[in-house]
Amino acid sequence: MRHKLVVGNWKMHGDRDLINRLVEGIIDGRPQISETVEIGICPTYLHIEQVAKLLLAANLKIRMGAQNVYCEEKGAYTGEVSAPMLAQLGVSLVIVGHSERRELFAESDALIAEKFKAIQANNMTPILCIGESLEQREQGITEEIVLAQLDAVIREAGIDVFNNAVIAYEPIWAIGTGKTATPDQAQEVHRIIREYLADQDTEVAAAIKILYGGSVKSGNARELFDQADIDGSLVGGASLEAAEFISICKSAD
Ligand code: 13P
Repeated sequence: MRHKLVVGNWKMHGDRDLINRLVEGIIDGRPQISETVEIGICPTYLHIEQVAKLLLAANLKIRMGAQNVYCEEKGAYTGEVSAPMLAQLGVSLVIVGHSERRELFAESDALIAEKFKAIQANNMTPILCIGESLEQREQGITEEIVLAQLDAVIREAGIDVFNNAVIAYEPIWAIGTGKTATPDQAQEVHRIIREYLADQDTEVAAAIKILYGGSVKSGNARELFDQADIDGSLVGGASLEAAEFISICKSAD
C-alpha cells in the first residue's frame, strides 16, 4: 500500500512575512490531515532556514524540501548550492528536472542525472519531474518523451536508485495554466511510467510514489488521487495559500 505524498513547490514566491503566515497556516492545518499522508514544502533556498526553524518548533510531520541543487559538493560554482548544504538544513526532499529548469535554464538530461545522484548521496529523496509539452502531446509522442526522460536517469544511475525516489509527472501544458490533465489522461501516463519501471524491477515499480503536477487545486485533487497510479501531487500555485493547500492534502486522506 502506497501512502500519499503532497508537496508544495513555492517556486520563486514569498517574502519573509508571507512565508511565516503560510507555514503557520500549514502547521495549524496539519493535525486535520491523516498521519499517513506525507506533506512536504519547498520554499526558495533563501527561505529554507526560516521554514526549517518554524517546522522544528512545531514538531509535526512536514518534510522540508528544496526546489533545486547543484551536482558538485563544493567549489568554484558561483551562485550554486550543494546537496550537503541542503542536507545540513534538514532538507529531505529535492525537486530535480522540473520543466521550468529544463526549459528556462537549459538543464540537460545528463545534468539532471548528476543532480539526482548527488541528492541521494546525501541521504535525501529526489523528486524527478518528467512531462511532455503541448506540441509533443499533439504529436502523439507523450509516452516516448516521458520514458526518455526517465531512462536518462536509469541509464546513468541504474534502476535500484528508484528505491529512494519520487517521480512527478507534470505535463508542461498543465503547469500554471489552469488546464489540469483529466484524471484519465493523468492515470494513463502514470500507468505507463509504472509499467516501464515494472519491466525492470517489479518491487521498485510497486513501491514508488508517482505524483501528478499541473494546476492541482482543492476542486480537482480528489478525483486525481482516486486513480490507481496517482500517489499524490506536486502543487505549484495552489500551495501558496495555506487553506487551499491543506484542503488538497485532506483530499489525499
Ligand atoms: P501549478 O500547480 O501552478 O500548475 O504548478 C505545478 C508545478 O509546476 C509544480 O511543480
